[in-house]
Amino acid sequence: MTDLASIEVAGSVAVVTGGANGIGRGIVRALLEADATVVVADVEQAVLDTTVATLSASHPGRITGVVTDVTDDASTDALADHVFNTHGCCNLLFNNAGVGSGGGGRMWTHEPNDWRWCYSVNVFGVANGVMSFVGRMLESGEPGHVVNTSSGDGGFAPVPNAAVYASSKAAVSCLTEALAHQLAEDSDQVGASVFYPSGGLMDTGLFSSYRNRPADLERVRGGTGRTSMTFQEMKDRLEKSGRNVKVADLDELGRWVVDCTARRQYVIGRDLDDTIDLLHRRADAIGALDLPPHHQMGL
Ligand SMILES: NC(=O)c1ccc[n+]([C@@H]2O[C@H](COP(=O)([O-])OP(=O)(O)OC[C@H]3O[C@@H](n4cnc5c(N)ncnc54)[C@H](O)[C@@H]3O)[C@@H](O)[C@H]2O)c1
Repeated sequence: MTDLASIEVAGSVAVVTGGANGIGRGIVRALLEADATVVVADVEQAVLDTTVATLSASHPGRITGVVTDVTDDASTDALADHVFNTHGCCNLLFNNAGVGSGGGGRMWTHEPNDWRWCYSVNVFGVANGVMSFVGRMLESGEPGHVVNTSSGDGGFAPVPNAAVYASSKAAVSCLTEALAHQLAEDSDQVGASVFYPSGGLMDTGLFSSYRNRPADLERVRGGTGRTSMTFQEMKDRLEKSGRNVKVADLDELGRWVVDCTARRQYVIGRDLDDTIDLLHRRADAIGALDLPPHHQMGL
């Protein structure tokens, strides 16, 4: 827990990248319920328009959408210009946009474009959000907080067959930790947290992320590694491996994230008992100079 004072969500200005769908949309709903003004930034115009129109009905004047491609720093700069010019500040920045898998299966069956696409969204997308917003958040003198969405897959330990995604999320966890340390040295107003979505299997668009894969980053070498699996395939696999699959409630998840953010909790994660055990076993293996154990998801 940091020494920063908690953030008043009511009346704050919040930006959520990848907020048109899935986990981000749950965060947007929770922010609106908590009386924040929300700018939703997403690359998918049609879904963004639908989300903004639907939520505007119950929260008129407090939600707008800006089509944004987080892989492009000019686009995140334009988003920041819009937010600061329209609202005068940004208190809460959720760097949440992400894509599922630039390549699953064996790493040697992937293509360079699998890495480029996944890293461009998951790693550069977060870095661009930080570079476009954080300097201005500090200059504004307003209380602020940045929440970067990582994943237990990579953030804590890899699922070996999701090497591209896992390593991109390891980068998000690492850069967020560095950011939080830097902010703790430089500011008594702005902090950062890392968010590990949890609380069950999430029925989101992550399983069809390829819908947003740009044409110039398509596979061109005939790579044979898996590009993704559907939510149902994932659920079936986990159930076949004997797991009891619970499907998460994304609105409840969003409310919990907003609560933890308001309290400036650094790690926004829950149900971490198995993870703590895994992290201890990883530390022991590293201390013994051995290969650390990984997440046991049979993907
Ligand atoms: N679903 C899970 O099980 C899970 C688990 C751990 C972490 N996460 C992370 O949660 C975050 C949200 O994922 P989700 O599961 O809600 O998936 P989702 O596909 O439902 O939502 C992701 C959103 O990001 C947007 N997006 C994709 N590329 C973009 C770009 N270049 N610029 C701007 N927006 C872009 C999509 O249009 C979409 O609205 C991601 O960072 C993901 O890696 C998800």
